[in-house]
Amino acid sequence: MIAAKTPRELTFADVTADTGPTGLRVEGTIPDWLHGSFVRNGSARYSFGPVELRHWFDGMAFLQRFAFSNSQVNYTSRFIRSDSYRAALEGRAEYQSFATPAARSLSSWLAGLALSNLTDNTNVNVVRYGESCVALTEVGLPRCFDPQTLDTLAPLKFNDDLGLGPTTAHPVRCGDAWVNYTLKLGLHNEYVVWRMSANGAREVLARIPSKRPAYVHSIGASARYAVLIEYPYRFDPIAMLLQAKPFIENFQWNGGESLIHLIHLKGEAAPVTCAAEPFFCFHHVSTFDDGDSVVIDLVGYDDASIVTDLYLDRVCETAPAAPGLSLRRYRAPLNGQDADRQTLLNARIELPRVDVRAERPRYVYAPRMGVGESFTDGILQIDTASAAQRVWERPDESPGEAIFVPKPGSTGETDGVVLFVALNAREQRSALVVLDAATFEERARAWAPAMLPIGFHGQFWSATER
Ligand SMILES: [Fe+2]
Repeated sequence: MIAAKTPRELTFADVTADTGPTGLRVEGTIPDWLHGSFVRNGSARYSFGPVELRHWFDGMAFLQRFAFSNSQVNYTSRFIRSDSYRAALEGRAEYQSFATPAARSLSSWLAGLALSNLTDNTNVNVVRYGESCVALTEVGLPRCFDPQTLDTLAPLKFNDDLGLGPTTAHPVRCGDAWVNYTLKLGLHNEYVVWRMSANGAREVLARIPSKRPAYVHSIGASARYAVLIEYPYRFDPIAMLLQAKPFIENFQWNGGESLIHLIHLKGEAAPVTCAAEPFFCFHHVSTFDDGDSVVIDLVGYDDASIVTDLYLDRVCETAPAAPGLSLRRYRAPLNGQDADRQTLLNARIELPRVDVRAERPRYVYAPRMGVGESFTDGILQIDTASAAQRVWERPDESPGEAIFVPKPGSTGETDGVVLFVALNAREQRSALVVLDAATFEERARAWAPAMLPIGFHGQFWSATER
């Protein structure tokens, strides 16, 4: 099924088939309190005969479910049956994706003008909006799926007339609502920051104008403020419409300042904008209020070169340079003065996660990007209070995103387990790994029936939620 050789190539190799449901062989002991599903999303196939997807972010969406019950694990995986996926299976490159162009027939070029052939390949994240389990990407509609079988269902319909546009696959939970933005393009471009409650209607919190909008992969939110940061990695919407390039090829690093927008979640104050040094970020870590400032922890870079370093031909050859990659803390004053930066830890990390129950999370969990032959080579637990770190690492194993699952009834940030999938390049197989969050020792692993893709993001949904 997978014909590749180096550890890096294995990390980004094609998967060609759905799997399961099937029981996995467990080594060690999975805590008996762990009941529920770890559902992941991510790229899993890039080659379809004449169709060759070019970037890690372009691969076809592949859902995986690790269901835990009575210390056993059952595994299911399914490709999302999107229009983009069906077209690729038939050898047609009809859809503009993150970094791969659509075929340049006249009809597809005209379709590109209308932005109607943007991909519907929802390969980035999963979230539960009320009773709907949905897969998300940065353009197009969220795609509903069955959380048990992972079967593809209809696109999600929002209960409003806000329309679509570039957005993030990282909505932030604020109480019983979700906060995100939609970028509206036209004569006047603006980020429409919205809050969606259980009825599926998006309420506009603020409209942030932007002549040349930025690539904004995630946002943050404290108890009082949503945080949207414009990095100096921007695009000209008119040129985007006329040139019909793949989405990310419209963006250029201009080296100017970053703009941190603070949006009051209850609309009690006008948005505040603070300037900051030039930097780039995919992933916010956590956000909290601190007196007259909002504190924003994130994984930052000195520039946006990481985006081009993740084209498949590059990332399969060499480690991304990732200049300045570090865990950073920006402090944005509510009076609009410039934000300052503190480096919490110089570390080659990505895909950060925290205990989402914590108002000011202390511990960060993240894969470590390798500098040698592996794309990732460990999982870090970083104590943001002391910069101390603990490491899980095994020879030849490349882990994906690690999530913290609290023990029911607990309150401590390390009272639970850490779950992730690791690909063993030497044995050419993958395992779901369970760490004790308090000791960072491996408690159990469940071997998968095949090598699994590194993927992007996942969530744990407890059995009581589903
Ligand atoms: Fe992401």
